[in-house]
Amino acid sequence: MRVLGIETSCDETGIAIYDSEKGLLAEALHSQVDLHRTYGGVVPELASRDHVRRGVPLIEQALAEANCGGDELDGIAYTAGPGLVGALLVGTSLGRSLAYGWEIPAIAVHHMEAHLLAPMLEDEAPSFPFLALLVSGGHTQLVQVNAPGDYQMLGESLDDAAGEAFDKTAKLLGLGYPGGAAMSELAEKGNAGRFSFPRPMTNKPGLDFSFSGLKTHALTTVKENDDDEQTRADIALAFVEAVVDTLLIKCRRAMQETGLSTLVAAGGVSANKQLRAGLQKMCADQGGRVYFPRPEFCTDNGAMIAYAGFLRLQAGQQEALAFAAYPRWPLTQIK
Ligand code: KG4
Ligand code: ZN
Repeated sequence: MRVLGIETSCDETGIAIYDSEKGLLAEALHSQVDLHRTYGGVVPELASRDHVRRGVPLIEQALAEANCGGDELDGIAYTAGPGLVGALLVGTSLGRSLAYGWEIPAIAVHHMEAHLLAPMLEDEAPSFPFLALLVSGGHTQLVQVNAPGDYQMLGESLDDAAGEAFDKTAKLLGLGYPGGAAMSELAEKGNAGRFSFPRPMTNKPGLDFSFSGLKTHALTTVKENDDDEQTRADIALAFVEAVVDTLLIKCRRAMQETGLSTLVAAGGVSANKQLRAGLQKMCADQGGRVYFPRPEFCTDNGAMIAYAGFLRLQAGQQEALAFAAYPRWPLTQIK
């Protein structure tokens, strides 16, 4: 079975072709970071317009790379939500129309489901059931994954997502947008122990998160100290340690409460070096194991959409000849 995946939920146009026997045949990605940088964040209307410009050429590029005609595809999967409504509508209408033209099934994919299934694209893939830590720009969630489509939400962020906290704190440290990877790099130059940030909601039972206080803490620390490069690095380190430690505490708690020893970490923030190292160690200490997508499949990409679409197509699902985008779409409400 061969599926074309289209990702346009935010600021990346991601296209890929997944073949159930041969694996990934082609991938193409266009990041809009340069387009949005001047504005310090994603401008939704610009994002939609750029997806319109990039979608078809990237699909042509992927088909050529895979040496595959549209008539050799078995389905087209597109991100239908959650995300920016205009951006979603571009990929949704493109995917649904091409599927109509090529007379093949179309599959609407949930973006966070695709993130959590992304480690299945690696040679060493986790087996079900497992716990998933989803950490992206818009979501922070701990999910019990019993089987594809069978998800139980154990905890989520009550305010900012982990990636959003990274981006906002990066901005106030003058690192520009998006700031996650830059924060991680700056933190590597920091001195441990100079600042200590709180680990929000870890003293209470439960698996929910709250990250908005950390950026406020960072702001106060910035104001109270000299504005030099070393101070910024020390603040970045204290921030990264607090986020990573909080995520580790909640993951360990979820493993203990569910008895599950397999953890999957996915979404943009799971590309973070400090988080990856921390989760490796914590899982080993717990007698468990953690699985990650390769770093380029942690952030948004077409491969995870093609793969999630393949699983749904294999299970006999497809969309009617109509399309809709779901900007807010709870993971637990997937059919
Ligand atoms: O999954 P993703 O590409 O898009 C969404 O679905 O939101 O995640 C993007 C988020 C951004 O907030 C970005 O700053 C963060 O992931 N991110 C990182 C790293 N790489 C990306 N955060 C921390 N460390 C990184 N290395
Ligand atoms: Zn994402």
